[in-house]
Amino acid sequence: MIQVDKLAKSFKDKKRGIVHALDHVSFQVKAGEIFGLLGPNGAGKTTCLRLLATILKPTSGTAQVGGADIVQSPESVRRQIGFLSGDMGSHARLTPREVLSFFGKLNGITGSKLSQRIDQMVELFDFREYADTKIDKLSTGMKQKVAIARTVLHDPPILILDEPSAGLDVPTARLIERFILNAKESGKCILFSTHVMEEAEYLCDRIGVVHQGRLKAEGTMEQLRELTGKQRLREIFLDLLDMPEAVGAGI
Ligand SMILES: Nc1ncnc2c1ncn2[C@@H]1O[C@H](COP(=O)(O)OP(=O)(O)OP(=O)(O)O)[C@@H](O)[C@H]1O
Ligand SMILES: [Mg+2]
Repeated sequence: MIQVDKLAKSFKDKKRGIVHALDHVSFQVKAGEIFGLLGPNGAGKTTCLRLLATILKPTSGTAQVGGADIVQSPESVRRQIGFLSGDMGSHARLTPREVLSFFGKLNGITGSKLSQRIDQMVELFDFREYADTKIDKLSTGMKQKVAIARTVLHDPPILILDEPSAGLDVPTARLIERFILNAKESGKCILFSTHVMEEAEYLCDRIGVVHQGRLKAEGTMEQLRELTGKQRLREIFLDLLDMPEAVGAGI
C-alpha cells in the first residue's frame, strides 16, 4: 500500500544552508500492517509523512501510496489517505461538528450518510460533550481527538498519522490505540510517527528508526533486538542513534 523508494527532501535555509530533512529513505507498509516511525526531534518524521501525504514535493526519490505516485498522481493519493498533521489552526472558529461536516463534504459524503458518520465519530472518539463548542475553546487533547476523527471520517484505506497520541492523557491515548488496532484488523494500512516507546512497541508490526534524515534500521521488534543485541525498544532506539551512554545516564 505504501512503497517509499530513496525518498529525499532538502530545504534551503538562510541560516543553516541546505538541510537534508529526509535523506534517501526506503521502506514499505502493507495492508493490515502498522508501521511506526521513531526518531528524535528534527529526525525527518514529519517531513516524510508530509511527502507521502503530498503536502510537500520530494527533492528526489519517489513513493507510491495506494498504487499512485506521490508526484505524478497526488489527487489519487489524497483520495486514499487520511492524514493527521497535528494542525487544526485554521478551523479554530468552527465547532467539531462543523469541521467534520466540512471535511465530509470535501470527501464527497453528504446528507444523512454524513450526519450518521459524524454521529459515529462523536461516539467513537467520545466528544459528545463538546461537539458543538468552538475549537479554540477546547483543550489540546480534545482538539487532537477531533483532528483524528476528521482524519478518518471518510474511512480511507491508508492512515498516515503524525504523532497521534501527542497531548493525550492515558485513557484517551488508549482509545486511540484501540482505534488503530481495529483499523489494522479491518485491513487498513497504517503509518504513524511517535515519541512514545511503549506505544510503538505495543502497536507496531514493524518499526523504522529515523535519525538525521536517514532510516537507521527497520524491522520487527525481534529483528531490531537481533540487530542491536538490546531488549527494550528504548535501548534499541538509543543504540541505533549511537547514544548508548544515555541509557546509563538515565535519560
Ligand atoms: N519548511 C522547512 N524549512 C526548513 N527546514 C525545515 C522545514 N521543515 C522541516 N525542516 C527541517 O527538517 C528537519 C526535519 O524536520 P521534521 O519536522 O521532519 O522532524 P521530526 O522528526 O518530525 O521532528 P519532531 O519529532 O520534533 O516532530 C529539521 O532539521 C527541520 O528543521
Ligand atoms: Mg514532527
